[in-house]
Amino acid sequence: PVPVILDCDPGHDDAFAIMLAAAHPGIDLLAVTTVAGNQTLEKTTLNARRVCAAAGIRGVPVAAGRDRPLRGPRRTAADIHGDSGLDGPGFGADEPDVPQDPRDALTLARDVLLAHPVPVTLVPTGPLTNIAALLLAHPELAGRIERIVLMGGSTERGNTTPAAEFNILCDPEAADVVFRSGLPVTMLGLNVTHQVRATPDVVARIAALGTPLGALCVDLLTYFASTYREVFGFDAPPLHDPLTVAHLIDPSLVGLVRAAVAVELDGTHTRGATVVDLHGVTGLPADVEVGVDVDTGRFWDLIVEAVRTLGGP
Ligand code: BDR
Ligand code: CA
Repeated sequence: PVPVILDCDPGHDDAFAIMLAAAHPGIDLLAVTTVAGNQTLEKTTLNARRVCAAAGIRGVPVAAGRDRPLRGPRRTAADIHGDSGLDGPGFGADEPDVPQDPRDALTLARDVLLAHPVPVTLVPTGPLTNIAALLLAHPELAGRIERIVLMGGSTERGNTTPAAEFNILCDPEAADVVFRSGLPVTMLGLNVTHQVRATPDVVARIAALGTPLGALCVDLLTYFASTYREVFGFDAPPLHDPLTVAHLIDPSLVGLVRAAVAVELDGTHTRGATVVDLHGVTGLPADVEVGVDVDTGRFWDLIVEAVRTLGGP
């Protein structure tokens, strides 16, 4: 199995990334770290614990990381993920029975990287603040990192400004650190994640599992569908984040091209945009793997199977 640290900001689609990583035998989920993004750090951390508790994911440490970007304002995506960051299922006020690791995310990640016998893959599905902070604070750990497979950016337009995707816009400086780190980076952006839409037939397959976890996932997807319809006019919401994990499980699932990627840090209207040189016009090294297409049928089979596995009989 591929050893993974999942760095996330749950978030409806992050929740499915956690579940897929925990459920599939092709992934060894070593840690879940959280970052401020879709909601405040306090909320994304609580949500990660809620997802683990609901899905019976135990023994995977969950630690909180950075509560704000390296530079610039804090932003959330309450319009998409609600006030809790995971609106829909109504988790109630009870504390989830999955604890928060007492270490901060950087310490946990460092401990895991040093302890694991082989290099570990980092999978960020939120703003890149924690990952950049880790690389800046511990350059000596680079050799312990196999690669970085992230959800963020786009080869096309944004979703939070006309030019910028949410995860990159939240912390462009952190994204810039990651893309220029010299580590192997795979970017799965909106151009490919918008191809995996949770259509009614997918939701029906999950409902048909007939388990409490299946019902919770239906509630998540139903809420996500309502905000995506309201904000973007989409018929069905794109389940961005778990595509990273699916790619690690089955490398043939996502079609990739190699390209130079730069993060716009200054543009008056374009801060946070990923500038992807698909045609090699800059002459810069094509050192990033960029997702361009996906086998959606196999992706949804993985998601449904993960919810089935974790949900029990
Ligand atoms: C990304 O932003 C968040 O709202 C989602 O969880 C995903 O990681 C999509 O732009
Ligand atoms: Ca996310």
